[in-house]
Amino acid sequence: MRELFPFFKQNPDIVYLDSAATSQTLYTVIEDLNDFMMNRKSNAHRSGHSMGSWVDSKYFHAKELIGQWLNIKQPSDRIIFNSGATQGLMDAVMMCAKQYAGGNIYVGVDSHHSLLLPLQKLARENPWWSINYIGLDTSGKLNLSDLEQRLLKDEGAKIIAVTAVSNVLGIVNDLIRIKDIAHKNKATTIIDASQIIGKRSLDLEGFDFVAWSWHKIYGPMGLGCLVIDPVWLEFDPVRPGGGSVISVNLAGASWQTTTSKFESGTQNLAAIVCLPRLITWLIKHKEDLESHDRAMANLAYSHVPQTCFIAASQPDSGLLSIFPAMGATEDYVMMLDAKKIMVRGGKLCAQPLIDQITGDKSLIRLSWGVYTMPREIEAFFDRILEIHGRFQKFVQ
Ligand code: ALA
Repeated sequence: MRELFPFFKQNPDIVYLDSAATSQTLYTVIEDLNDFMMNRKSNAHRSGHSMGSWVDSKYFHAKELIGQWLNIKQPSDRIIFNSGATQGLMDAVMMCAKQYAGGNIYVGVDSHHSLLLPLQKLARENPWWSINYIGLDTSGKLNLSDLEQRLLKDEGAKIIAVTAVSNVLGIVNDLIRIKDIAHKNKATTIIDASQIIGKRSLDLEGFDFVAWSWHKIYGPMGLGCLVIDPVWLEFDPVRPGGGSVISVNLAGASWQTTTSKFESGTQNLAAIVCLPRLITWLIKHKEDLESHDRAMANLAYSHVPQTCFIAASQPDSGLLSIFPAMGATEDYVMMLDAKKIMVRGGKLCAQPLIDQITGDKSLIRLSWGVYTMPREIEAFFDRILEIHGRFQKFVQ
C-alpha cells in the first residue's frame, strides 16, 4: 500500500507517525486535485455549461458512493458537505439548539474539543441546557451502564454526544449500544467519527448526526461530511446563504428541501471531485485497512512494557499515547523530530481527559495509517528509549 502514497517516495527518510492529526494522501486524490485545478475548475449547481455539469456529476456520485460505503440509505438526503468535522459538530449542536428549548447534554469525557466546546458554549449561553459528562469504565471505554442509569431519571430532551474513538486513547466505543440507549431514551445523537472512519466498518443508520473530516482518511484537506437523519431536513438551515433557497423575495425565502439547504456557498469542489476514486479504493480495501490498523495497535502496545513510559490506554485503533516517567514531552517530540520522526505531543485538543489521566502533564502520541510499517513503530521506540537514557544520565 505504501507505494500508493507519493509522500513516501518523495520523503523516504521521514518516519511519519502523526496520521491521527492528518494522514498522507492517496495518489488518486493528488491526481484528481491537480486535474481539477489545471483543467476543470468550475462551479457546481449553478453553471449551465458542460464543465459545471461534470462537477455536478462528481458531487452526486461522491454522495452515492459514501452511501454504499457506510450503509446510508437515501444518501443525497442525508450527506452534507462542509469544511470538516469541527464545522459539522458545531452545526449539529446549533440544529439541536434551535429544535429544543433546553435539556440535558450527556457528552463523553474522552471527547475532542471540537465536540466539547460547542456543547459547553450552548450550556453557558442558555441556562435551560446543562452538561453532564459520561465517564470511562476500567477498560477506557465510555461507561454506558452508568449512562443508562442516569437516563432513567431524565424525562426531558437530551443529547448524547460521543466520539467513536478518542484521539487520545484509541479505544473504540460501543456505537451499537449507544444507538440503542439513545433510541430507548428518545435522545438525539451526535457522533464524532473523525478517528474511526476508514478504520472500522460502520453503519450510520439510526444516528442523528455523524461528522468526520476527509484529510484523516487519505483524502483532501478542507472537506468534511455531516450525515444527518432525514428528519433534520425539516429544519431551517443554521448557515443560510447562496444555494440554500428555492426562491427569495424582499419579504423572505423558501428553503431548499434537500441537503443543499445546509450547504450554502460554494463547496470545496476541488476536494469533492477527488472522492469517487478515493471512496472506491476505501471500499475495495475495507478489510485490509482494518486488519492493518489492528496489527499496528497490537505492535505499538507490545513495545510499551519495555519502555519507561506509561501508556494512556491499551488502544484498539489508530494511535497510542504515552507519557514519560522522566523529562518533558516537548523535549521528546523535538528530539524525535531531529531524527525525522514525526509525532504529536501536548494536550491533543482533549485537555479535560488528558488532565484526568496525567494530572497536569501532556502526552506523546504516535499514530499510524495503512502505509505505516512495523520498522517505523520500532524506530520510534528505539529513539525514545535512547532519549530516556540521556535524561537518566542527567539525573544521576
Ligand atoms: N484532531 C486531530 C488530532 O487529534 C488534529 O491530532
